[in-house]
Amino acid sequence: MFKSLLKSVFYRFGYSICKVRPVAAAGAAGADAGGTRLMPLIHARSPYQDFPLAEYPPDLQGWGSQSVAFDTLLARLKPRRIIEVGTWKGGSAIHMAKVARGLGLAPEIICVDTWLGAVEFWTDQQDPERYLSLQCRHGYPTVYYQFVANVLHEQCQDLITPFPQTATIAALWFRRYGVSADLIYVDGSHEEEDVYADLVGYWDLVRPGGVLAGDDWGWDGVRLAATRFAREQGVVVTQLADKWYLEKA
Ligand SMILES: C[S@@+](CC[C@H](N)C(=O)[O-])C[C@H]1O[C@@H](n2cnc3c(N)ncnc32)[C@H](O)[C@@H]1O
Repeated sequence: MFKSLLKSVFYRFGYSICKVRPVAAAGAAGADAGGTRLMPLIHARSPYQDFPLAEYPPDLQGWGSQSVAFDTLLARLKPRRIIEVGTWKGGSAIHMAKVARGLGLAPEIICVDTWLGAVEFWTDQQDPERYLSLQCRHGYPTVYYQFVANVLHEQCQDLITPFPQTATIAALWFRRYGVSADLIYVDGSHEEEDVYADLVGYWDLVRPGGVLAGDDWGWDGVRLAATRFAREQGVVVTQLADKWYLEKA
């Protein structure tokens, strides 16, 4: 009673509860060098627990998911934490998990996605790779469950943490918890302003010496946003196989 009264008084004066409540775990996540697992901070219960795996046969359809660029970047960065923005059915995240294992690494790969698709997923109702793959049930996409199933089929649940959120809100969460990452892979929306917003939102989360990489240089929106952002930051865009990346000094 007293707590909720106090809360509404603070709200009235323009303070969010976060400004008055210390986030207990933030220190732990923020202070470490990437070793703290974020899974228990994001999920009170494991998303993999009691999953009805038999209902979802493996389906790893994706785009540029198995690129050799991941092998090169992981071997170089030896990441302890990876953030992926845009995961879809898990192709690239699962590939990174397997490459990491092959290198004797065990990074946590946090997958940020709404699993609602980008704009091009909603423009052609006959497209088997996009609209139809959203697997709408009563009008709402269920492709997230295919992703969870794929992670389990490939036995990567120890490394992959789903974060079902918008890129924007997840970036705010990472900031609030003082989270940084060695590698951030941006493959969400390909619209120029969205890509630019992702770069602004995630660049500060890249650890010094780390890399922000992206897909789809062939898309105008991606190319224009990355070029603009790199120019503003005074960094160069490097092409690597079918990916591009920016290095944090
Ligand atoms: C091209 S797919 C990702 C492909 C994936 N990396 C692979 O290897 O197959 C783009 C994904 O970004 C997600 N997405 C688009 N805009 C987003 C946003 N603003 N926030 C979170 N996820 C978003 C979509 O739901 C979709 O799953």
